[in-house]
Amino acid sequence: MDWGMKNRLSRLFNTKTGKCVWLAIDHGYFLGPVSNLEDPAKTIKPLIPFTDALMLTRGILRNCVEASLGVPFILRVSGGNSIAGPALSNEGIQTCMEEALRLNASAVAISIYVGTEHEHQTLMALGKLVDEGQRYGMPVLAVTAVGKELEKRDARYLGLSCRIAAELGASAVKTYYCENFSSIIKSCPVPVVIAGGPKLETELDALKLAHDAIKEGASGVDMGRNIWQSPRAVGMIKAIRGIVHDKMPVKEAGKLLK
Ligand code: R5P
Repeated sequence: MDWGMKNRLSRLFNTKTGKCVWLAIDHGYFLGPVSNLEDPAKTIKPLIPFTDALMLTRGILRNCVEASLGVPFILRVSGGNSIAGPALSNEGIQTCMEEALRLNASAVAISIYVGTEHEHQTLMALGKLVDEGQRYGMPVLAVTAVGKELEKRDARYLGLSCRIAAELGASAVKTYYCENFSSIIKSCPVPVVIAGGPKLETELDALKLAHDAIKEGASGVDMGRNIWQSPRAVGMIKAIRGIVHDKMPVKEAGKLLK
């Protein structure tokens, strides 16, 4: 692996544990001002010390994150869709590799929509991004998006999407936790991280989700709503860190919630 690619990946995955706690705040690129993320700068300020990397768009990065903080980030470069539009799967690359390099991103992220009418365009976009990423030493994170069809989140569908993403050259894949998650891990040759999805009923439910995913082989989390929509967001991210980096059981991690 090229030095630059290796160096970028080492900013994202803790070099001691090999795992990651990324904070996803990219929701606005198609959802607009999501609850508790209306003012991203305010939301993330207390969470940054416990975050290995942010996942966000260039607009939020430039306007809401101090460059001098030095926090690593994964730049979402796909978009062009919205919750108000006809098809969430109709995404393309809307931020170029030159911009990712200029901003000093540690990786770029793109959603793929396997099994939709826009499957082909999103997979071709992934391939193009990987080619550019190889040229410049930039890892590519593929996100196995399901749009509004949350019921798609099963091992058969997500396993298919993750494997395709890896085959097309993604350095890592972000997907959802589901029943029989270990089968996804077994058939995906690159690190798999999980999204949290919409806010679960309790914080302990979200901690259990992270715990089970790590136990079954996930390389970490790229979680958003279950952290920053919690009234105890700092406690939540500390607890998630305990699970991911310190192998804490849910009960012990739960004590970090305050
Ligand atoms: C989708 O909007 C984004 O890719 C999010 O980064 C992803 O869904 C993770 O955030 P959450 O844990 O809120 O699902």
